[in-house]
Amino acid sequence: MKASAKNLRVALLLAIESSCDETAVAIVRGTTGQATEVLASEISSQIALHREHGGVVPELASRNHSLHLRGLVEKALQDAGVRMEEIDAFAATTGPGLASSLLIGSTAAKGMACALGRPFLGINHLEGHLLSPFLAQTSVPPHVALIVSGGHTLLLDVEAAGKYQKLGGTRDDAAGEAYDKVGKMLGLPYPGGPEIEKSAVGGNPKAYDFPRSMVHEPHLDFSFSGLKTAVLYTLQKETGTLPVADLAASFQQAVIDILVQKTLRAAKTTGRRRIALSGGVSLNRALRAAFQQAGERAGIEISVASPAFCTDNAAMIAFAALLRHLAGESSRLDGDIHPNLPLV
Ligand code: KG4
Ligand code: ZN
Repeated sequence: MKASAKNLRVALLLAIESSCDETAVAIVRGTTGQATEVLASEISSQIALHREHGGVVPELASRNHSLHLRGLVEKALQDAGVRMEEIDAFAATTGPGLASSLLIGSTAAKGMACALGRPFLGINHLEGHLLSPFLAQTSVPPHVALIVSGGHTLLLDVEAAGKYQKLGGTRDDAAGEAYDKVGKMLGLPYPGGPEIEKSAVGGNPKAYDFPRSMVHEPHLDFSFSGLKTAVLYTLQKETGTLPVADLAASFQQAVIDILVQKTLRAAKTTGRRRIALSGGVSLNRALRAAFQQAGERAGIEISVASPAFCTDNAAMIAFAALLRHLAGESSRLDGDIHPNLPLV
């Protein structure tokens, strides 16, 4: 990205998110130093489509992005009450994600930018999640960020927007991936995360003592594959009707304990007094409550994205793009998509 000398003050931005199985378009208005207004945030979820396959089928995902994108752009413009010509810049997620899905959104956004002679901004999906808790705020304060989604479990030190340092990440499965795989083992529909949360409400979190891998090790990395395997072995030994609620609650408690303990350690190590949670798993009410409780005990503020902006959405991409646009940055139109794009 290159920075131009002029610093913009007000901007209308349209962004597309199509990195996985949600096609999303958002329009935001931002003014330097003021809270960003989300004028429209449209999402066409493909969950029902992929559910019958038990997971995301890349070709189905990209086909459906291209089928729905145009309608979503038109609806976003209508809901926002703006004309396409009024948009100051166009953005899209350019990684990480499924290559064939990323290509649909980024090509469409580049096309619109090109046709109207406006800048294009390629945005890292993880930066979108990372900044989402601060969408309605006037600035991004220093904090420790925990991104917990289907593809990522990442701990970062955030000095300000654009200034990130990796503290730790998962060595195997992402937290959301573990939820989805365990959900499948328990016979719950895809995606497992919300289903396990629902089942866990009526279960005993102490019914099974599942492992909290690496939680006492001093580094800030995570591992969830041992936990997943422990659930599998337990299931194999169960005879008769599966105690789904107890298994869900015990598994969820193990995930929560690992995430809370490692993230609080990260705050202690860096000296940050704020933790921000983002990504699909941060929608989980038991996880939010556990962080609030631990934060209160440790005197650390907890910021979470509003529920509409936890799972994949385009408003978070528009917000990340807006901050860069207002700082005078833009991306090349001949830039590629990057399925494995790291954040730092
Ligand atoms: O952020 P996201 O929409 O997509 C990625 O970037 O991966 O996250 C999706 C993940 C899935 O693994 C899903 O099971 C999980 O977030 N998830 C949840 C909940 N809602 C979604 N996990 C636990 N509890 C939930 N309520
Ligand atoms: Zn995501």
